[in-house]
Amino acid sequence: MGTHPPSAARRLSAARRQALQQYRARADRYDSELEPFEPLRREAIQRLDLRPGETVLDVGCGTGLSFGPLLDQLGPRGHIVGIEQCPEMMAQARLRFSDLRAQQLRLVQAPVEEAQWPGLAHAALFHFTHDILRSPRALDNVLAHLAPGARVVATGLQWAAPWVWPVNLFVLGAALYSVSSLDGLAQPWSELAPRLEGFEVHPTWMGGIFMATGVWPGRAP
Ligand SMILES: C[S@@+](CC[C@H](N)C(=O)[O-])C[C@H]1O[C@@H](n2cnc3c(N)ncnc32)[C@H](O)[C@@H]1O
Repeated sequence: MGTHPPSAARRLSAARRQALQQYRARADRYDSELEPFEPLRREAIQRLDLRPGETVLDVGCGTGLSFGPLLDQLGPRGHIVGIEQCPEMMAQARLRFSDLRAQQLRLVQAPVEEAQWPGLAHAALFHFTHDILRSPRALDNVLAHLAPGARVVATGLQWAAPWVWPVNLFVLGAALYSVSSLDGLAQPWSELAPRLEGFEVHPTWMGGIFMATGVWPGRAP
């Protein structure tokens, strides 16, 4: 009897299981592990160009490390929709605010591909969310929840030029620890780029990290 290659759906669910396992195990120590990368978060949020009172999608929000700096920009009338599939990461996100600011958060615990929430947002942040950026269904669901003209910022690991191999060793180590597949690390934004206008990629950390920006025109260009 011959063996059959796994179907795309089975491969997808295996990848999703692996991603869930990675973050279930990391949730308690995630915030301290991310400390060296926090300047990147501040820069990414700055690039969102948020105005007071706006709504922003924090896609794959993890433990909610972006919530504080986002609310600093959004003010007391702004809102964040945080979408996250890992219950343990989301549990940490829920603990982040017990004060009035908790009312400015809507937390959706679901895969981004299937998540549902009401309203259109003014901006979307994908901060270190490689698996989500590689998922066309997830991107389409997020973009369907953005108002025309919404700003989008995505950051994450990428392969640097081959001769900067120490940087690529760092990228490899970090990716094995945090993404479910190394596929797409040469151009992690390649599914996002054709969906946005004015798309730009800003490499940083000697090319091992990218920061990409663009604007959602209201329908796929
Ligand atoms: C590296 S963490 C980044 C968390 C957060 N954005 C931050 O800046 O700290 C990636 C997060 O994406 C979540 N994630 C991965 N694939 C997802 C999917 N398909 N739907 C929802 N969340 C997903 C993981 O559970 C994890 O919390």
